[in-house]
Amino acid sequence: RGDLFNKRRATLLKSTGNSQRSINILWGRHNQGRHVERDQTVSSPTIPIVDLSNLDKELVARAVVKASQEWGVFQVVNHEIPKELIQSLKKVGTHFFELSSEAEKEAVATPANSKDIQGYVTNSQQDIEDKVNEEYARQVKKLAENILGWLSEGLGLDREALFNQGFGGGEKAVYTMKINYYPPCRPQANLVLGMQPHTDIHGLTLLVPNEIPGLQVFNDNQWFDVEYNPSVINILIGDPIWRMSNGKYKNVLHRTTLNTEKTRMSWVVLLKPPYDMVIEPLKKHTGDGDEAPKFEPITYGEHVERKVRDKLSKAVMTLDDI
Ligand code: SIN
Ligand code: FE2
Repeated sequence: RGDLFNKRRATLLKSTGNSQRSINILWGRHNQGRHVERDQTVSSPTIPIVDLSNLDKELVARAVVKASQEWGVFQVVNHEIPKELIQSLKKVGTHFFELSSEAEKEAVATPANSKDIQGYVTNSQQDIEDKVNEEYARQVKKLAENILGWLSEGLGLDREALFNQGFGGGEKAVYTMKINYYPPCRPQANLVLGMQPHTDIHGLTLLVPNEIPGLQVFNDNQWFDVEYNPSVINILIGDPIWRMSNGKYKNVLHRTTLNTEKTRMSWVVLLKPPYDMVIEPLKKHTGDGDEAPKFEPITYGEHVERKVRDKLSKAVMTLDDI
């Protein structure tokens, strides 16, 4: 319970419902690592890498589908999001977490149109951050929607099916940016986790970390390190896509570790359905028909509530995914 309370305080909402911004930002500080016996971790280059510049788009689509079926996670390269933009994005959160006091952080965390912000963040700093955020948001949305297109085709559906029927389309789909901050943890960082193993509550995760390793994914009964590569964007499939695809695409189990010396950060864009959207296996309009649905229809809001309840009952609630 103590953990939960502290985390709630440390997760600051930078901006809510500000229409000027295309993505709201959540700030998460993860410094209450739990000590666990770490099982064997293999450092492995086997997490699928998909080159989006390949002109054979069918090949790209097949690679995305295969990776989502077998792993629920993959890395995309040549995604057309300029590396300078990603570098600028990474400065956004670093500035916030480097502010010295909680009071300063709270002030920055108030909506950008609040008067309180004066004196803590200069307007020019704020403007730059907003522009970077907006541009990254625009580009990452395009990438997310392309990925959903390939995943829809892999289910024998129209390209727009997952985005429109599953996430509510351009009007309703919710994008959130979350910046995670994991300060160093001594002396036994190799036994401490920053974020407990979980599958993502939301639909699709597009993640870029700093150069400090820490993200691990579970596959075939083993944990794998996700290698750092400044050119890639990591894509993770979450629970709603698992349900919408009738279990075809995996909701990958993942966790993060802490470093003894260095701060790890990650910049994550989450794509969620609206809370009232019914999540269920999507139906084909034509073709061979559907297999029996493995999941009951449930609204996204109910899914979130159930999962939070479940986590609370197991006392591993982290508020990481909300
Ligand atoms: C990460 O920080 O790399 C993962 C964060 C998450 O699972 O939300
Ligand atoms: Fe996650």
